[in-house]
Amino acid sequence: MGRYNDIFQKSISDPQGFWGKAAEAISWHKKWDKVLDDSNQPFYRWFAGGELNTCYNALDRHVESGRADQIALIYDSPVTKQVQKFTYRELRDATARFAGALRGLGVSKGDTVVIYMPMIPEAVTAMLACARLGAVHSVVFGGFAPNELAVRIDDAKPKVIVSASGAIEVSRLIEYKPMLDKAIELASHKPENCIVFQRPQVLAQLIAGRDHDWAELVAKSEPVDCVPVKATDPLYILYTSGTTGLPKGVVRDNGGHAVALQWSMEHIYNVRPGDVFWSASDVGWVVGHSYIVYGPLLAGCTTVLYEGKSVGTPDPGAFWRVISQHGVKVLFTAPTAFRAIKKEDPKGEYLKKYDLAGFKYLFLAGERLDPDTYHWASDLLKRPVIDHWWQTETGWPITANPMGIEEFPVKPGSSTMPVPGFDVRILDSNGKELGPDQEGIVAVKLPFPPGTLPTLWKNDDWFVKSYLAPFPGYYYTSDGGHKDRDGYFFIMGRIDDVINVAGHRLSTGSMEEVVSKHTAVAECAVIGARDALKGQLPVGLVVLKAGANGNQEEIRKELVKMVREQVGPIACFKQVAVVNRLPKTRSGKILRGTMRKIADGETYTVPATIDDPAILGEIETAMKGMGYGKDSSSRS
Ligand code: COA
Ligand code: AMP
Repeated sequence: MGRYNDIFQKSISDPQGFWGKAAEAISWHKKWDKVLDDSNQPFYRWFAGGELNTCYNALDRHVESGRADQIALIYDSPVTKQVQKFTYRELRDATARFAGALRGLGVSKGDTVVIYMPMIPEAVTAMLACARLGAVHSVVFGGFAPNELAVRIDDAKPKVIVSASGAIEVSRLIEYKPMLDKAIELASHKPENCIVFQRPQVLAQLIAGRDHDWAELVAKSEPVDCVPVKATDPLYILYTSGTTGLPKGVVRDNGGHAVALQWSMEHIYNVRPGDVFWSASDVGWVVGHSYIVYGPLLAGCTTVLYEGKSVGTPDPGAFWRVISQHGVKVLFTAPTAFRAIKKEDPKGEYLKKYDLAGFKYLFLAGERLDPDTYHWASDLLKRPVIDHWWQTETGWPITANPMGIEEFPVKPGSSTMPVPGFDVRILDSNGKELGPDQEGIVAVKLPFPPGTLPTLWKNDDWFVKSYLAPFPGYYYTSDGGHKDRDGYFFIMGRIDDVINVAGHRLSTGSMEEVVSKHTAVAECAVIGARDALKGQLPVGLVVLKAGANGNQEEIRKELVKMVREQVGPIACFKQVAVVNRLPKTRSGKILRGTMRKIADGETYTVPATIDDPAILGEIETAMKGMGYGKDSSSRS
């Protein structure tokens, strides 16, 4: 642990010196007054007094320093059968022009813009154009339903919404425009203007006066230059699922974010300018923000924007084809994408068709990399397969095997060491630090490094309450886990009601809100049950109102449809059982943890506080009926 140890210790003992030096890799319009401003604890601000522009750092400075003709972005879309490449100059010019279009609609520094788009280059241009103007973007993942989009519109209050006519999910066309219209109808905040990128596969009807055709607007707009913003000004808001139906608006600042991401590209992912980096995620998730868009571009790499899946577009060799065709050095995706490949091509026959000579590392995140998938991928690829743990809130990894610093021997099931800057501790429920191999709550000692959330959008109180109040002096991660005697971290999963479905973070609370709206439902619980492909799947248990028992099958179907329409298809809510009662404590708290254990076939102890232990038998039967629980084989 030579080099890593030195770097890690320095980052913790002297954060000012450490991050001040890292910040030299970024171009500043005005240098900061203070690297870390801790005068208003528990709030910390990085690079206070500094000014920069993130888009300038991601595009213009590379154009000016000799990378103008290097490919910045490769758009690879098996679903539309096309590959398009954009040099840094081309991407800068397209971005500057779209920024002009936004400015023409009145967008300026500090305004918010919601982006609801599929995986097309215009989504990247739209994000960078906001950054160019100092506007704050909020990208909403396309798999969310209008209702979820409406909630985000009401919180972010965008001046403009940027969208596209639709998406292509493998071979299915999904119209975005009707969903956008519905969301605006549902929202109280009405944006003045919408810009819609028309895709030839699916054309949208525009509403005169409000909607603008992307191409027409851009054609009559002039390019605009980068607007310097404060390091502490927000770059974006990204909504993420919490335990309630209301998503949390994670804020990312400009300065700390640019410094941290640039640093991470070299030290964690071991890439250099000119390398091809591919994050097979979606711009709607944090991984897409950090490692499709900002990280690789800040570092002068070539980034791949892939509009497809690991299987079905067209086959389980899709990832190998992209890696070999574009000379990808690093692939970053979620374990579930690899489980999908393993399911369809267990022997890895498709790999034999491609030359992967330039491929060096596979990084996985979004959920814990289970040892089976680790062994399968590692045996097949014969390259480092690296699990690293992070959250929307942190914006970059908290624990990782840092390939650019020192390669640690892998322990399957562990995401290895804390990333420099993150002082990770395991605490008990009273906030006392636990020793090696003791399972507890994972927390990070403050100050949080640059790039992590400074607050929640217009809600400092919620930020403090959610993350800082549980253990003063620490950031509360909501993940459980332990550290072993060699200092390796094992992150075992959420200890709240957030679930992880195919690497997507979802709130069971928001699904419960929808289910409980059904007129026949008296009460309900939605829990996450283990799934062999997607990691977890939501399972609903409902108690019907007296007299509503007649049409159980119909009610179940309606509930599935309601969640699909109101949360989105991405929730994968397909299983509901009707029960007579839900297990509760004597004070009325639903015993979700116990039901989760029953669903996963784990041994559980009957809680001493339960009001009626007999109910658990009925829950076991209901779970079995849906293929979960002790005697069920694992689902596929
Ligand atoms: N717009 C509209 N619908 C969408 C959508 C979008 N952008 N993205 C997904 N959906 C729909 C899907 O079509 C599917 O609908 P269905 O129920 O009608 O089949 C549903 O939402 C669930 O999608 P998904 O979870 O992607 O399931 P899948 O079976 O299509 O694909 C995997 C399975 C494993 C290949 C896929 O989930 C995957 O690659 N996951 C990796 C996720 C990831 O990269 N996460 C980021 C963290 S690194
Ligand atoms: P998101 O905010 O969508 O990135 O989801 C964050 C959550 O995903 C974390 O709180 C973890 O529960 C889970 N997660 C992400 N990466 C990992 C990992 N490598 N190991 C374990 N859990 C992970």
